[in-house]
Parts: sequence; C-alpha cells; structure tokens
Amino acid sequence: MTQVDISELVFEVLESIKQKNVIPLGSAFPSPLLFPLNNLARTMASSVQIMDPWSSIDNLSTGDANLRRQIALRYMIDGLHVPADEIIITNGALEALNLCLAAVTRPGDTVLIESPTFYAALQSIERIGLNAIEIPSHPREGIDLDAMEMAIELHKPKVCWLMTNFQNPLGCLLSDEKKKALVALITKYKLPLIEDDVYGELYFGDKRPTPAKAYDTEGLIMHCSSFSKCLAPGYRVGWVATNRYVKDIERLKLTTALSTSTPVQAALAKYLQKGGYDRHLRSLRHTLLINQIKFTEAIARYFPEETRLTVPQGGYFLWLKLPDGVNALEVHKTAIESGISIAPGPIFSAKKEFTGYIRLNYGHIWDDRIEASLSTLGAVVRNLVPE
Ligand SMILES: Cc1ncc(COP(=O)(O)O)c(C=O)c1O
Repeated sequence: MTQVDISELVFEVLESIKQKNVIPLGSAFPSPLLFPLNNLARTMASSVQIMDPWSSIDNLSTGDANLRRQIALRYMIDGLHVPADEIIITNGALEALNLCLAAVTRPGDTVLIESPTFYAALQSIERIGLNAIEIPSHPREGIDLDAMEMAIELHKPKVCWLMTNFQNPLGCLLSDEKKKALVALITKYKLPLIEDDVYGELYFGDKRPTPAKAYDTEGLIMHCSSFSKCLAPGYRVGWVATNRYVKDIERLKLTTALSTSTPVQAALAKYLQKGGYDRHLRSLRHTLLINQIKFTEAIARYFPEETRLTVPQGGYFLWLKLPDGVNALEVHKTAIESGISIAPGPIFSAKKEFTGYIRLNYGHIWDDRIEASLSTLGAVVRNLVPE
C-alpha cells in the first residue's frame, strides 16, 4: 500500500460513517446523542441575543475572553495555573494541533510521533512537508521513553506530538511518573511538545488525569484540547494553552482562520458559566464505562478466542489484536459490505504497520443493532482466521 492508499482509506472510513445505515464502529466521534444539545441550543439562543456587536472584532485571533477565562478556571480546578491570555481558541483541537506544528517547524524538519498514532497527525505532517519518526507505544503504558531519547539524539527533531491521556487509538494512559519522566526528557533536550488531550475529561477513575503540561516549568508544552468529544460535537471549538509560543500561534491564526465563530464561543462560555457541565460529564463517563463493559463482554462472546484487547481507563476506543494471520484491511473490506465500519490498524501508522489490529468505537448508544454488528464482526474475523 502507498501513502495515497492510506489517505484514501482514512477518507473511506470517514465517508462510511456518514451513512446512517452503517454501524459506525470505525468512527473517531462519539454519538452526538450523548450530549446536552437542547441545553446548548437554548444557551446559544439567549447568549447570541445579548452578544456585544463588537465581539467579532474583540475575538480576533485569540478568541472570546469569557470562554478563555472559563477554560483557565477549569485548568485551575485541575491544579494547573494557566492564565487566560495563554489560551487561544481554535476551530476544534485539530486546528490547535496544526497551528502548534506550524509554529515550531519548517518544511523538511523532523517530528517525533508515537506509533500507532492518530491518523490526522500523519496527514498534517505529510501536508506541510515534515518527516515523521515513529516511536513505539505500549498499549497500556504508552510511549517508550528510551526509544524516544535515542530518536532525539539521532534525528534532532524540532517537536514531538503525542497524547498522554487515553491515546487514540491505543486508549493508554501515561502514569504521573511517566509524564514527569517525559517532561524531564523534553526539558533536557529543550524539545517542544504538542500534547493532544482531547479525551482527558472522559476518565473512569476518580479524577481527571493530569496533563504533562502540569509538570512543565520551561513552557515547552503546547496543550491542545476541545469540546468536540465531551460537550459540543460539531461546534468546532478547541484551544491551545501555551506560554512560550502564544504570540507565534496568534499570528499564524490571523493568517489562516482569523478567528473562531463568535456566537458559538459566546454560547459555550455561557454554558460553562451557568454550571451543569460537570453533571453532564459524570453522566457521559458513566454511559461510556457501561458501553465499554458491554463491548468487551460482546467481544469475548463473539470474537475468536485468540483476539486480544486492552481495557482503557477512559475514552471510547478499544484496540484489538486480531488472531494471527487475520488482516485488518480484509476485515475492513468485508465488514463494510455488511454495513459495519471499523478503523483498520494501518491508518494509524506512517509505515502502514498494525495490519493485525483494529480500533472499535464504543461511544454509541448500546442497543440490539450494535450487539448484532459485533456478532457479525466476530464472524467476519473468524472466517478470516487461516486454516
Ligand atoms: C486524538 C485526536 N485529536 C484531535 C482530534 C480532533 O479534535 P477536534 O474534533 O476537536 O478538532 C481528534 C478527533 O477525532 C482525535 O481523535
């Protein structure tokens, strides 16, 4: 398979999940029905009516001041000191990640990424002419820091892009010790780090896992997140919290998107201000945890015994190792014919590795259709096991 084929495959997976008759187990998005859409709509209607007409000008580049204050407040509750003027509102986390990447690299530079990785990272790196060096990640413990140090010495990267909490696609969570070791490593080499933390609020433990940024004393970490996965899918509101690179990113944003939709930012600021977000998050996390249990039980019931998976402590992805000899691309092809989308392993690797893995999304409301799709998928995998 060539690089183009992988991009096409990603596109194919995205197209398949738009079809309402396809079961979207390959989707990166949770079901929009899990979110307080009516409440958000009411907040939007009332906030837009009282919006300052000058806010579209005031918001330019950095974003709505109230929303930035609300986000800074949430950092504070989680024990991080992030001033509101070090937060830039973006069009989803993806814009934040792309702006960070552009701020610290020039075409031809090298970027460290984890392997497997979120496919949009691969596409962004390719689009702006950078070289990706893949560092192996363990399904439970995350990125291999020894391998990362060797790659830093050897390739002199300009930046590292990774996920510390509920990584996509593995679901792994770095321990606090490991996050500290990661920060010590980037500090030693003065290596900027783009920390993608879009799933951090979706924890099943008793508190939100700390971002690595909490341990960064040198301002090297650009912490990116959004409301897309936990509150307002489709609103396209995310942010980056950065100290050292704030001006560069502000300037880049001015020459690309200019700003993020003003009414949408005002609505989210008001929603956060009036309270209720944490109640929604508790209910969302509970639903996701129940779904995870139902999915893992169904996989144990319907998939061949040699199928392996790790059970993440948050998020909504399961990373499955298929029985030996079963090819994820074949599973994808056959599953889609049965109206089921899955995310095949190779889309998460620049070298098209992970041909024996698939990622499933359990962020959809559990019902008979989902259960039947897992039963069908189990049969698809079983039929592909070599004699
Ligand atoms: C790991 C990861 N980072 C970033 C994004 C993009 O987030 P947003 O929709 O807020 O742009 C996604 C969406 O799938 C994701 O899975």
